[in-house]
Order: sequence, then C-alpha cells, then structure tokens
Amino acid sequence: MDRRRKTLPVIKTDADIERMVEEHNLILPGANGQSPVSPSSSRTTSTRTASSTNQLSQSPPDDSSLVRPSPSKPVRPKETTASLLLPPAVPGRWIRLAEEEKPVFQRHSVGLTEIPGVVRTLKPPTYNPERQLETRLVIIMVGLPARGKSYIVKKLRRYLNWLQYETKVFNVGNTRRTQKASPSDQSAKFFDPDNNEMKKIRDDIAMDVLEHLIEWLKKGKQSRVAIHDATNSTISRRQLLIERLSNEPKIKILLLESICTDQTVLERNFRLKLLGPDYKNIDPVQALEDFRSRVANYERAYEPLGDWEEERDLEYCKLINVGKKVVAYNISGYLSGQCVFYLMNFNLSDRQIFVTRHGQSTDNLDDRIGGDASLTPLGRRFGKALERFISQQRKSFAMSMARRKQEQLEDAYGFDKLDLLDPSHDGEAREELLNKTAEALSSSQFTVWTSMLKRSMETAASFSPEDYDIKHIRYLNEINSGGRECMTYEEIQRLYPQEFKARQENKLYYRYPGMGGESYIDVIHRLQPLIIELERMTQSCLIITHRVVLRIILGYLLDWSREEMPHMLVPIHTVYEYRPKPYGSELKKWRYVEEKDTFEEF
Ligand code: F6P
Repeated sequence: MDRRRKTLPVIKTDADIERMVEEHNLILPGANGQSPVSPSSSRTTSTRTASSTNQLSQSPPDDSSLVRPSPSKPVRPKETTASLLLPPAVPGRWIRLAEEEKPVFQRHSVGLTEIPGVVRTLKPPTYNPERQLETRLVIIMVGLPARGKSYIVKKLRRYLNWLQYETKVFNVGNTRRTQKASPSDQSAKFFDPDNNEMKKIRDDIAMDVLEHLIEWLKKGKQSRVAIHDATNSTISRRQLLIERLSNEPKIKILLLESICTDQTVLERNFRLKLLGPDYKNIDPVQALEDFRSRVANYERAYEPLGDWEEERDLEYCKLINVGKKVVAYNISGYLSGQCVFYLMNFNLSDRQIFVTRHGQSTDNLDDRIGGDASLTPLGRRFGKALERFISQQRKSFAMSMARRKQEQLEDAYGFDKLDLLDPSHDGEAREELLNKTAEALSSSQFTVWTSMLKRSMETAASFSPEDYDIKHIRYLNEINSGGRECMTYEEIQRLYPQEFKARQENKLYYRYPGMGGESYIDVIHRLQPLIIELERMTQSCLIITHRVVLRIILGYLLDWSREEMPHMLVPIHTVYEYRPKPYGSELKKWRYVEEKDTFEEF
C-alpha cells in the first residue's frame, strides 16, 4: 500500500540513488558538470501507466517516492488516452530539465521554501538560474456558489503574501463577466449543466484563466502560489485543469473545497450575492430567485472531492462549515501544509482586536532605538487611560452584541411569541434582559497581550488579571537592532553611513548586524504563531507592542504591501481597532488626547 511519509525526508545513499535511477530510467547530471550519462539509456520513459502520470508523481515533494513505485490504482478506461498524453513521471526530487529524447533532471527543492534572508537553498553546480528551483503551488478552489470560496481565498492570499510567498487570486467569475466572448445573458440558464454549449463556454473561460495563472507563475520571479477561484464543482472540469497543469513539471496542486451545510449562513450568503456584480440594478426578489436556480443547477451536477482525487493521489482539503470540520487528504507539500494549518484555525466570531504601541518611554524622548526603558509619567498616564478606554469599549461592544442577539431572537420567534412565553415582556423587561445579556458578555474573556519589554508591560499595569486574561509574550518584543541597540538614528547615520543607507534602501530585508540583530522578515516569521493564535481565538483582545511589530500585525490585518509596510506611520498613543467581518473588516483609529486624558476617534 502506498503510504506517503509525513516526516522530513531522509537523504538517500548513493546506492539508493543508483537503484532509483535504474528503476526509473533517469539521467542525472554528471557530478563534474560534464554531460549527463544514462545508466540504462536503452529503456524508454514514455510508457508509464496513466495513474503514474499525474502531477504528483512528476514532482512529489516527498522523497519516499524515490524508492517506491508510483501508485497503481486502477484507472477508468475513458481517461486513459488523455492521461497518457501527459509527460512521463519523474519520481522523487528530480525535475525534468530538457525535452530531449534522453531527458536531463535537476535536483528539486523540497520542504521549506526559499525566503530571502531566512531560508536559502544551496544550488547544485549544474543549477541553471534561468530555471526556478522552487516548486510553485496552484490551489484549485471547489464548491457550490455562495460557499464562501472567495472569502477564503482572499484571506489565504493575505496570509501567504504576508509570509512573503507571493500569491495571486485568479477569479473566473470576473473573467466570465468581462470577457467579450461571454454571452450577454448570464442568468441561471447559462449555468444549466445539461446545456453543452454553455458548459463549453464556461469551461473555456476557466481554462483561459488557468493559462493566465500559469503564465504568472512561470514568469513572475517571486510568484509562488496562484489560486484558481471558481466552482470547479465537477470531475470533468477538475480533470481539464489538472491535465493542463500536469504539463508543468514544477507546479504542485492543492484542491480546496468549501462546503456549507448551515442554512442560516447560506441564506445570508445568498443575500450578499445580490449586492455583487452579477445582480447590479436587478430587482432583489427577481435576483434572489435567479440565484437560487443557478445554485440548483450547480447542485444537479455537483461532484464533491473524493474517490476520483484519491485514485490519482492528489492533495486535497475540505473545509466544512468554516473549518468546523476539516478533511485533509495526502497533504505533503510545505506550502499546502501551511495553507491547511492556517485554514483550520480561522473563525468568523464577531470581536474587537485593539492594537497599540506602548506608552511613551524615556528612550522615546531621546529617539533611542531598542533597549528596555521604562515609561515616562506621560506614558504611565496613557496606560491608565487605555485601561479606562478599553473597559468602556468592551461594554459598548457587549451591549451591541446583546442587542443583536435580542433582535435575532425576536426575528426568530416574533414579538407575539415572546409575549406569549412571558407576558411581562414589555419594553422595560426587554431592556432589562438586554442589560443582563450585555453584562454577561462584557465579563466574558478579553485577552491582553504585551511584549516582555518593560515599556510594554508597564503600559498594561492598570489592567487587572481579575478582569482580563493578561499574557506577556516574547514574540511581541521589538525588532532587535543587534549592535545598534540604544543608539539614535542620527548616531547610526554618522558612525555607520553605509549601514544606514542599506537599511533605508531595503528596510524589509535589512538585518541589523551584531548579536541577535533582526530584520523585518525575521520579525514576521517569529510572529507567525501569534497570527495563527489571533485567527484561532474567538474573544476580543488588546495587543500592546512596539513600532515594527505593530506595523507587521497591521500589515497582516489590513493587507499592506511589503513595500509600504515598513514605512507606515504608526505613532505612539494611537489605538487601532480592527473588527473582522464575515465579508471584509472594519477599522477605527483612536488618538490619546493628553489635555483631556481621554481618547478621540480620528
Ligand atoms: O524608536 C522606537 C522603535 O520601536 C525602535 O525600538 C525600533 O528600532 C524602531 O522603532 C523601528 O522603527 P523603524 O523600522 O522605522 O526604524
């Protein structure tokens, strides 16, 4: 039975490699850079079974396939012809480099992918810089309409880009709406699965988008992950996409299906669709009716991920009801693993995320960077005012949540029913109920995170552990400026002008010299577990941190580009309030007004 190893690959011995070469009839680059020789050149590589020709068997990330035969599950006869046209399988970590009769292979990079300044893969002597060593990942979305696919891909794109894996979404719906060749009538009829002509048009659009996606992945120097955002809800459609991708030896595939069985969420999603570009200027009742028939059309032909993908050893993940249940099959690539882990951890809870820098420190007065200074009297006043502000915000948020709960109840049962249940449910009683609910909600968990530096912990000094879950976290410490700790920018510029210039020119990647010195990229990677935690938790929170960390956290939440993020203005005594919403987010900014000792929105 084909069991894919889930641990890091073990380097093979020469004997293993020789055996593999013999078994798979490979040609390896000559060790001294001379032209490669084939140990068994009389054999041909083009007679593999159809099941071994899928993309995974071409470039699996996992060395276990070096010595095991490709999966040999039975293949349905109707697919054999198309699948046999695919390029021959290349086992293990070898990439096919040339199309000649005797193909040449180059070592293929596995596991952790290249991150400038953080992960560097040593290139073999035969490495051709023209060719990318790293595999690219294509995520094929799957799911009926209104299952939150576009929401998921936006989130995933934001996260991967934040981690510096350049990611782009290719949305098929947008092309369908704008492409000249598309029919003007795109009502439910256009999505009828029995109408072959329309089906062909839809498939062609999806394939067209796939071509753009492949071009972006191959041409973009930084391109890493491309997401094909469409329903792709039938096997025949997925087969088209996968067969085309199988011609690209360094592209891996992850299929990602979103399933929603929660009727309330579905109804809300349906209504949100009416605000989208397909139903602009259309009467909402008519639009809703049309959208329902479109969904019904898709449902008729829907084939969820399953046996077909498993028979082909593909990687897939099913997200059921916003990650309540996750099914992951055959996930073995590094980037796929990162995606699945991220998607397993997010939720749609309504909550407040406040982020701020510490109060003014004595080092801030002198413009000194780094260090571990204490707060000034003004900084301490800010800390006290912050506690009052958060406590008020927490209460008013709880009140609005309670009001919403009450409205939902009233919507569900109607006033009459409520009155029936309890004759005293007049206006006053309802208000009392509301207050009680708000009180209960506001005393529910609220987390405060600080760094382990004095200025950050002192800012949180007024928060009581009775009322708040307070954590001091080292990950939130400010960037370590190594040998330049406690200096001013003016001193650095005067004493180390080259370094100063280098940092100005590339702040993101510049790493401070000396013990422990970090770059923005280093800080991003140490913050990764906290971002996952932020996505995972459902309660509100306040994060008290430092300039670089704040920029990086806001960069993630607000999708700032890597160019702008290190330069964003984030002054002290400013609080950012971020509210995740099922479709987007909301941001408020509050400034501490010294004279009034209070906060004002701006
Ligand atoms: O000056 C405060 C501070 O948090 C320093 O400790 C840190 O080195 C600096 O800001 C980071 O800002 P920038 O990346 O713009 O130099």
